[in-house]
Amino acid sequence: MLSLILGLATLALTATPVTAFIECNVLNYGAVADNSTDLGPALTKAWTQCVIPQVTTTVATNVLLYVPAGNFLLASTVTFDDAANWNLHIAGNIYLPYNPALTGTMLTFENCQNILLNGPGAIFGNGYRYRPGGDLTLNPSRPRLIRFQNCNNCEITAVTLYDSPQFHVTIIGNNNVAHDMAIIASHVGETDGFDMSGNNNYVHDVSVENGDECVTVKTPTNGFVAERITCKWTAGCNIGSFGDDNTAVNVQNVVYTDVTISNSDAGIMIKAYPDNIGTVTNITYNDFTLSAAAYPIYISAFWAGNGVDTGKLSITDVTFNSIVGTGTPTRPAVLLDCNAATPCKNIVFNGVSLTNTISNKFTNACGSGVTGIPAC
Ligand SMILES: *[C@@H]1O[C@H](CO)[C@@H](O)[C@H](O)[C@H]1NC(C)=O
Ligand SMILES: *[C@@H]1O[C@H](CO)[C@@H](O)[C@H](O)[C@H]1NC(C)=O
Repeated sequence: MLSLILGLATLALTATPVTAFIECNVLNYGAVADNSTDLGPALTKAWTQCVIPQVTTTVATNVLLYVPAGNFLLASTVTFDDAANWNLHIAGNIYLPYNPALTGTMLTFENCQNILLNGPGAIFGNGYRYRPGGDLTLNPSRPRLIRFQNCNNCEITAVTLYDSPQFHVTIIGNNNVAHDMAIIASHVGETDGFDMSGNNNYVHDVSVENGDECVTVKTPTNGFVAERITCKWTAGCNIGSFGDDNTAVNVQNVVYTDVTISNSDAGIMIKAYPDNIGTVTNITYNDFTLSAAAYPIYISAFWAGNGVDTGKLSITDVTFNSIVGTGTPTRPAVLLDCNAATPCKNIVFNGVSLTNTISNKFTNACGSGVTGIPAC
Protein backbone atom coordinates (compact mmCIF):
# COMPACT_ATOMS: atom_id res chain seq x y z
CA MET A 1 0.00 0.00 0.00
CA LEU A 2 2.77 2.41 0.94
CA SER A 3 4.67 1.68 -2.28
CA LEU A 4 1.44 2.27 -4.19
CA ILE A 5 1.06 5.66 -2.52
CA LEU A 6 4.70 6.48 -3.18
CA GLY A 7 4.26 5.37 -6.77
CA LEU A 8 1.27 7.66 -7.18
CA ALA A 9 3.24 10.49 -5.55
CA THR A 10 6.02 9.94 -8.07
CA LEU A 11 3.48 10.03 -10.91
CA ALA A 12 2.04 13.25 -9.51
CA LEU A 13 5.57 14.64 -9.27
CA THR A 14 6.20 13.91 -12.95
CA ALA A 15 2.83 15.24 -14.05
CA THR A 16 2.66 18.48 -12.10
CA PRO A 17 6.09 19.60 -10.92
CA VAL A 18 4.84 23.03 -9.82
CA THR A 19 2.76 21.61 -6.97
CA ALA A 20 5.09 18.65 -6.39
CA PHE A 21 5.23 17.08 -3.01
CA ILE A 22 8.81 16.91 -1.83
CA GLU A 23 9.92 14.70 1.01
CA CYS A 24 13.22 15.38 2.76
CA ASN A 25 13.68 12.21 4.75
CA VAL A 26 16.10 12.50 7.68
CA LEU A 27 17.32 8.94 6.96
CA ASN A 28 19.03 10.37 3.87
CA TYR A 29 20.83 12.99 5.98
CA GLY A 30 22.45 10.90 8.69
CA ALA A 31 19.57 9.88 10.92
CA VAL A 32 19.37 6.25 12.03
CA ALA A 33 16.27 4.78 13.63
CA ASP A 34 18.37 3.03 16.25
CA ASN A 35 17.37 5.21 19.20
CA SER A 36 21.00 6.11 19.80
CA THR A 37 22.25 8.19 16.85
CA ASP A 38 21.48 11.86 17.53
CA LEU A 39 18.63 13.02 15.28
CA GLY A 40 19.53 16.71 15.78
CA PRO A 41 22.29 17.05 13.15
CA ALA A 42 20.23 15.11 10.61
CA LEU A 43 17.26 17.44 11.08
CA THR A 44 19.49 20.45 10.51
CA LYS A 45 21.19 18.91 7.50
CA ALA A 46 17.95 17.79 5.84
CA TRP A 47 16.49 21.23 6.46
CA THR A 48 19.39 23.23 5.02
CA GLN A 49 20.26 20.88 2.14
CA CYS A 50 16.84 19.64 1.09
CA VAL A 51 13.97 21.70 2.54
CA ILE A 52 15.25 25.26 2.12
CA PRO A 53 16.36 24.90 -1.52
CA GLN A 54 13.09 23.26 -2.53
CA VAL A 55 10.48 25.52 -0.93
CA THR A 56 8.89 27.31 -3.84
CA THR A 57 5.28 27.78 -2.75
CA THR A 58 3.44 28.94 0.34
CA VAL A 59 1.73 25.55 0.76
CA ALA A 60 3.49 24.18 3.84
CA THR A 61 2.57 20.57 3.04
CA ASN A 62 4.38 20.69 -0.32
CA VAL A 63 7.78 20.26 1.36
CA LEU A 64 8.17 17.81 4.20
CA LEU A 65 11.01 17.51 6.61
CA TYR A 66 10.17 13.91 7.32
CA VAL A 67 10.96 11.79 10.37
CA PRO A 68 9.68 8.34 9.39
CA ALA A 69 8.40 5.58 11.63
CA GLY A 70 11.03 4.19 13.99
CA ASN A 71 12.74 5.16 17.21
CA PHE A 72 15.04 8.17 17.17
CA LEU A 73 17.12 9.76 19.89
CA LEU A 74 17.17 13.57 19.96
CA ALA A 75 20.28 14.37 21.96
CA SER A 76 20.85 17.99 20.90
CA THR A 77 18.70 21.06 20.38
CA VAL A 78 17.71 22.21 16.88
CA THR A 79 16.75 25.74 15.83
CA PHE A 80 15.00 26.45 12.54
CA ASP A 81 15.59 30.18 12.11
CA ASP A 82 13.79 32.18 9.40
CA ALA A 83 11.78 29.08 8.56
CA ALA A 84 8.86 29.46 6.16
CA ASN A 85 6.36 27.38 4.23
CA TRP A 86 7.24 23.79 5.10
CA ASN A 87 6.09 20.90 7.20
CA LEU A 88 7.96 19.06 9.94
CA HIS A 89 6.18 15.73 9.74
CA ILE A 90 7.01 13.39 12.59
CA ALA A 91 5.76 9.85 11.98
CA GLY A 92 8.18 8.14 14.35
CA ASN A 93 8.97 8.24 18.03
CA ILE A 94 11.54 10.73 19.25
CA TYR A 95 13.18 10.13 22.64
CA LEU A 96 15.21 12.50 24.78
CA PRO A 97 18.19 11.04 26.59
CA TYR A 98 18.91 11.80 30.20
CA ASN A 99 21.76 14.26 29.96
CA PRO A 100 22.15 16.77 32.79
CA ALA A 101 24.06 19.06 30.41
CA LEU A 102 21.19 19.21 27.91
CA THR A 103 19.45 22.60 28.10
CA GLY A 104 17.36 25.01 26.01
CA THR A 105 14.51 23.94 23.74
CA MET A 106 14.74 20.74 21.71
CA LEU A 107 12.86 22.09 18.66
CA THR A 108 12.73 25.86 18.14
CA PHE A 109 11.14 27.65 15.22
CA GLU A 110 12.28 31.26 15.20
CA ASN A 111 11.14 34.19 13.05
CA CYS A 112 8.99 31.71 11.23
CA GLN A 113 6.00 31.83 8.97
CA ASN A 114 3.51 29.20 7.84
CA ILE A 115 5.10 26.12 9.40
CA LEU A 116 3.12 22.94 10.05
CA LEU A 117 4.43 20.60 12.74
CA ASN A 118 2.40 17.42 12.73
CA GLY A 119 2.35 13.77 13.69
CA PRO A 120 1.16 11.07 14.02
CA GLY A 121 4.41 10.50 15.92
CA ALA A 122 5.38 11.37 19.45
CA ILE A 123 8.14 12.95 21.48
CA PHE A 124 9.05 11.25 24.74
CA GLY A 125 10.80 13.72 27.06
CA ASN A 126 11.84 11.31 29.79
CA GLY A 127 11.28 14.23 32.16
CA TYR A 128 11.03 12.02 35.23
CA ARG A 129 14.71 11.15 34.84
CA TYR A 130 15.61 14.86 35.17
CA ARG A 131 13.46 15.20 38.32
CA PRO A 132 14.18 12.18 40.49
CA GLY A 133 11.48 11.99 43.13
CA GLY A 134 9.91 15.15 41.73
CA ASP A 135 12.99 17.24 42.61
CA LEU A 136 12.84 20.34 40.37
CA THR A 137 16.13 21.72 41.71
CA LEU A 138 18.54 19.01 40.59
CA ASN A 139 18.58 20.05 36.90
CA PRO A 140 17.03 23.54 36.89
CA SER A 141 18.03 24.20 33.25
CA ARG A 142 16.59 20.95 31.95
CA PRO A 143 15.25 21.11 28.40
CA ARG A 144 11.89 22.23 27.08
CA LEU A 145 10.31 20.58 24.05
CA ILE A 146 8.87 22.95 21.42
CA ARG A 147 8.98 26.70 20.91
CA PHE A 148 7.60 28.93 18.20
CA GLN A 149 9.33 32.27 18.77
CA ASN A 150 8.18 35.26 16.76
CA CYS A 151 6.17 33.02 14.44
CA ASN A 152 2.99 33.72 12.49
CA ASN A 153 0.42 31.48 10.79
CA CYS A 154 1.90 28.26 12.16
CA GLU A 155 0.10 25.09 13.14
CA ILE A 156 0.94 22.23 15.47
CA THR A 157 -1.24 19.15 15.52
CA ALA A 158 -1.46 15.38 15.94
CA VAL A 159 1.89 15.00 17.63
CA THR A 160 1.75 13.55 21.15
CA LEU A 161 4.14 14.95 23.73
CA TYR A 162 5.10 12.88 26.75
CA ASP A 163 6.71 14.14 29.91
CA SER A 164 9.01 16.97 28.90
CA PRO A 165 11.77 17.73 31.42
CA GLN A 166 10.31 21.29 31.39
CA PHE A 167 7.58 23.21 29.50
CA HIS A 168 6.05 21.47 26.49
CA VAL A 169 4.80 24.02 23.92
CA THR A 170 5.46 27.77 23.90
CA ILE A 171 3.99 29.83 21.08
CA ILE A 172 4.83 33.52 20.65
CA GLY A 173 3.45 35.32 17.60
CA ASN A 174 0.24 35.89 15.70
CA ASN A 175 -2.44 33.72 14.10
CA ASN A 176 -1.00 30.40 15.23
CA VAL A 177 -3.08 27.31 15.94
CA ALA A 178 -2.49 24.30 18.16
CA HIS A 179 -5.12 21.60 17.89
CA ASP A 180 -6.08 17.94 18.13
CA MET A 181 -3.16 16.77 20.19
CA ALA A 182 -2.33 15.54 23.66
CA ILE A 183 0.32 16.32 26.24
CA ILE A 184 0.82 13.71 28.94
CA ALA A 185 3.35 14.49 31.66
CA SER A 186 4.26 13.92 35.29
CA HIS A 187 2.13 15.64 37.94
CA VAL A 188 4.85 18.11 38.96
CA GLY A 189 5.52 21.82 38.42
CA GLU A 190 7.26 23.48 35.46
CA THR A 191 5.61 21.11 33.00
CA ASP A 192 3.37 23.74 31.29
CA GLY A 193 1.23 22.43 28.43
CA PHE A 194 0.58 25.37 26.08
CA ASP A 195 1.92 28.86 26.92
CA MET A 196 0.51 31.31 24.40
CA SER A 197 1.18 34.97 23.66
CA GLY A 198 0.68 37.31 20.72
CA ASN A 199 -2.42 38.17 18.74
CA ASN A 200 -5.23 35.94 17.55
CA ASN A 201 -3.77 32.59 18.53
CA TYR A 202 -6.12 29.63 18.81
CA VAL A 203 -5.94 26.39 20.76
CA HIS A 204 -8.68 23.81 20.31
CA ASP A 205 -9.42 20.15 20.93
CA VAL A 206 -6.38 19.45 23.06
CA SER A 207 -5.88 17.57 26.28
CA VAL A 208 -3.18 18.18 28.84
CA GLU A 209 -2.21 16.04 31.80
CA ASN A 210 0.60 17.50 33.91
CA GLY A 211 1.26 19.37 37.15
CA ASP A 212 1.32 22.97 35.90
CA GLU A 213 -0.31 25.26 33.33
CA CYS A 214 -2.82 23.63 30.97
CA VAL A 215 -3.61 26.19 28.23
CA THR A 216 -2.36 29.53 29.46
CA VAL A 217 -2.18 33.09 28.18
CA LYS A 218 0.93 35.17 28.69
CA THR A 219 1.47 38.86 28.02
CA PRO A 220 1.20 40.50 25.54
CA THR A 221 -1.97 39.01 24.06
CA ASN A 222 -4.69 40.66 22.00
CA GLY A 223 -7.21 38.09 20.84
CA PHE A 224 -7.01 34.50 21.98
CA VAL A 225 -9.52 31.69 21.71
CA ALA A 226 -9.41 28.30 23.44
CA GLU A 227 -12.13 25.72 22.81
CA ARG A 228 -12.75 22.13 23.86
CA ILE A 229 -9.87 21.78 26.28
CA THR A 230 -9.39 18.95 28.77
CA CYS A 231 -7.01 19.48 31.70
CA LYS A 232 -6.08 16.70 34.14
CA TRP A 233 -3.94 17.22 37.24
CA THR A 234 -2.91 20.62 35.91
CA ALA A 235 -2.75 24.09 37.45
CA GLY A 236 -5.70 25.11 35.27
CA CYS A 237 -6.34 27.50 32.40
CA ASN A 238 -4.76 30.72 33.53
CA ILE A 239 -3.72 34.17 32.48
CA GLY A 240 -0.24 34.95 33.79
CA SER A 241 1.87 34.95 35.62
CA PHE A 242 3.53 37.91 34.03
CA GLY A 243 6.90 38.14 35.71
CA ASP A 244 8.19 40.32 38.47
CA ASP A 245 9.79 43.78 38.59
CA ASN A 246 7.28 46.13 36.94
CA THR A 247 6.55 43.80 34.04
CA ALA A 248 4.30 45.57 31.54
CA VAL A 249 1.07 43.64 31.02
CA ASN A 250 -1.37 43.90 28.12
CA VAL A 251 -3.86 41.05 27.80
CA GLN A 252 -7.23 41.62 26.16
CA ASN A 253 -10.01 39.94 24.19
CA VAL A 254 -9.58 36.38 25.43
CA VAL A 255 -12.30 33.72 25.26
CA TYR A 256 -12.22 30.19 26.67
CA THR A 257 -15.16 27.91 25.85
CA ASP A 258 -15.95 24.33 26.79
CA VAL A 259 -13.21 23.38 29.21
CA THR A 260 -13.06 20.36 31.52
CA ILE A 261 -10.69 20.53 34.47
CA SER A 262 -10.16 17.78 37.02
CA ASN A 263 -7.94 17.20 40.07
CA SER A 264 -6.19 20.52 39.60
CA ASP A 265 -4.29 23.04 41.72
CA ALA A 266 -6.47 25.77 40.22
CA GLY A 267 -9.36 26.08 37.79
CA ILE A 268 -9.35 29.54 36.26
CA MET A 269 -6.77 32.01 37.52
CA ILE A 270 -5.51 35.43 36.62
CA LYS A 271 -2.21 35.58 38.41
CA ALA A 272 -0.21 38.78 38.71
CA TYR A 273 2.61 40.25 40.73
CA PRO A 274 1.78 43.33 42.83
CA ASP A 275 4.21 45.52 40.87
CA ASN A 276 2.90 44.58 37.41
CA ILE A 277 1.84 47.58 35.32
CA GLY A 278 -0.85 47.57 32.66
CA THR A 279 -4.15 46.01 31.71
CA VAL A 280 -6.03 42.76 31.66
CA THR A 281 -9.45 43.34 30.12
CA ASN A 282 -12.33 41.76 28.22
CA ILE A 283 -11.80 38.15 29.26
CA THR A 284 -14.64 35.59 28.94
CA TYR A 285 -14.89 32.05 30.28
CA ASN A 286 -17.80 29.92 29.01
CA ASP A 287 -18.94 26.43 29.97
CA PHE A 288 -16.36 25.09 32.38
CA THR A 289 -16.86 21.80 34.17
CA LEU A 290 -14.59 21.41 37.17
CA SER A 291 -14.06 18.48 39.47
CA ALA A 292 -11.86 18.69 42.54
CA ALA A 293 -10.35 21.98 41.42
CA ALA A 294 -8.59 23.92 44.14
CA TYR A 295 -9.31 27.64 43.71
CA PRO A 296 -11.94 27.15 40.98
CA ILE A 297 -12.09 30.89 40.19
CA TYR A 298 -9.24 33.01 41.47
CA ILE A 299 -8.01 36.46 40.46
CA SER A 300 -4.91 37.49 42.36
CA ALA A 301 -2.84 40.64 42.09
CA PHE A 302 -0.53 39.08 44.64
CA TRP A 303 0.10 35.64 43.24
CA ALA A 304 3.84 35.99 43.73
CA GLY A 305 6.39 38.73 44.24
CA ASN A 306 7.28 41.04 47.08
CA GLY A 307 3.71 41.86 48.09
CA VAL A 308 3.99 45.66 47.85
CA ASP A 309 0.75 46.88 46.30
CA THR A 310 1.72 49.44 43.66
CA GLY A 311 -1.81 49.36 42.20
CA LYS A 312 -0.70 49.80 38.61
CA LEU A 313 -2.32 46.73 37.09
CA SER A 314 -5.94 47.08 36.10
CA ILE A 315 -8.13 43.97 35.72
CA THR A 316 -11.58 44.71 34.27
CA ASP A 317 -14.48 43.18 32.35
CA VAL A 318 -13.99 39.53 33.18
CA THR A 319 -17.08 37.37 32.60
CA PHE A 320 -17.71 33.84 33.81
CA ASN A 321 -20.62 32.01 32.12
CA SER A 322 -21.72 28.59 33.29
CA ILE A 323 -18.92 27.40 35.54
CA VAL A 324 -20.07 24.25 37.32
CA GLY A 325 -18.73 21.39 39.38
CA THR A 326 -16.69 20.93 42.52
CA GLY A 327 -13.88 22.73 44.28
CA THR A 328 -12.03 21.58 47.37
CA PRO A 329 -13.38 21.81 50.93
CA THR A 330 -10.89 24.38 52.31
CA ARG A 331 -10.92 26.97 49.53
CA PRO A 332 -13.47 29.51 48.27
CA ALA A 333 -15.33 28.86 45.02
CA VAL A 334 -14.59 32.45 44.01
CA LEU A 335 -11.61 34.34 45.38
CA LEU A 336 -10.85 37.83 44.08
CA ASP A 337 -7.84 39.55 45.62
CA CYS A 338 -7.12 42.78 43.80
CA ASN A 339 -5.19 46.04 44.12
CA ALA A 340 -6.43 48.70 46.53
CA ALA A 341 -5.53 51.54 44.14
CA THR A 342 -6.97 49.79 41.05
CA PRO A 343 -9.73 47.43 42.12
CA CYS A 344 -10.93 44.67 39.79
CA LYS A 345 -14.03 46.04 38.04
CA ASN A 346 -16.96 44.53 36.20
CA ILE A 347 -16.30 40.95 37.21
CA VAL A 348 -19.52 39.29 36.05
CA PHE A 349 -20.76 35.83 36.96
CA ASN A 350 -23.63 34.02 35.22
CA GLY A 351 -24.53 30.50 36.20
CA VAL A 352 -21.68 29.77 38.57
CA SER A 353 -22.56 26.65 40.54
CA LEU A 354 -19.67 25.18 42.49
CA THR A 355 -19.94 22.87 45.47
CA ASN A 356 -17.55 21.45 48.04
CA THR A 357 -15.99 24.87 48.72
CA ILE A 358 -15.98 27.52 51.46
CA SER A 359 -17.54 30.99 51.06
CA ASN A 360 -16.51 33.37 48.33
CA LYS A 361 -14.02 36.06 49.28
CA PHE A 362 -13.63 39.50 47.69
CA THR A 363 -10.95 42.13 48.28
CA ASN A 364 -10.98 45.29 46.17
CA ALA A 365 -13.28 43.79 43.55
CA CYS A 366 -16.74 44.60 42.27
CA GLY A 367 -19.19 43.05 39.86
CA SER A 368 -22.32 40.94 39.90
CA GLY A 369 -23.81 37.51 39.85
CA VAL A 370 -22.38 35.65 42.85
CA THR A 371 -23.09 35.80 46.54
CA GLY A 372 -21.15 38.48 48.37
CA ILE A 373 -19.64 40.50 45.54
CA PRO A 374 -20.17 44.26 45.90
CA ALA A 375 -21.69 46.10 42.97
CA CYS A 376 -19.43 48.48 41.05
C1 LIG B 1 15.00 5.03 23.45
O1 LIG B 1 15.96 5.62 24.29
C2 LIG B 1 15.42 6.34 25.38
C3 LIG B 1 16.51 7.14 26.03
O2 LIG B 1 17.61 6.37 26.37
C4 LIG B 1 14.72 5.37 26.29
O3 LIG B 1 14.17 6.04 27.39
C5 LIG B 1 13.61 4.69 25.51
O4 LIG B 1 12.96 3.72 26.30
C6 LIG B 1 14.17 4.03 24.25
N1 LIG B 1 13.04 3.60 23.44
C7 LIG B 1 12.94 2.36 22.95
C8 LIG B 1 11.73 2.06 22.14
O5 LIG B 1 13.80 1.53 23.16
C1 LIG C 1 -14.17 41.43 23.71
O1 LIG C 1 -13.56 40.31 23.12
C2 LIG C 1 -14.39 39.66 22.18
C3 LIG C 1 -13.67 38.40 21.74
O2 LIG C 1 -12.40 38.69 21.27
C4 LIG C 1 -14.68 40.60 21.02
O3 LIG C 1 -15.52 39.98 20.08
C5 LIG C 1 -15.33 41.86 21.56
O4 LIG C 1 -15.48 42.79 20.50
C6 LIG C 1 -14.47 42.47 22.65
N1 LIG C 1 -15.20 43.57 23.26
C7 LIG C 1 -14.67 44.78 23.37
C8 LIG C 1 -15.51 45.79 24.05
O5 LIG C 1 -13.54 45.05 22.95
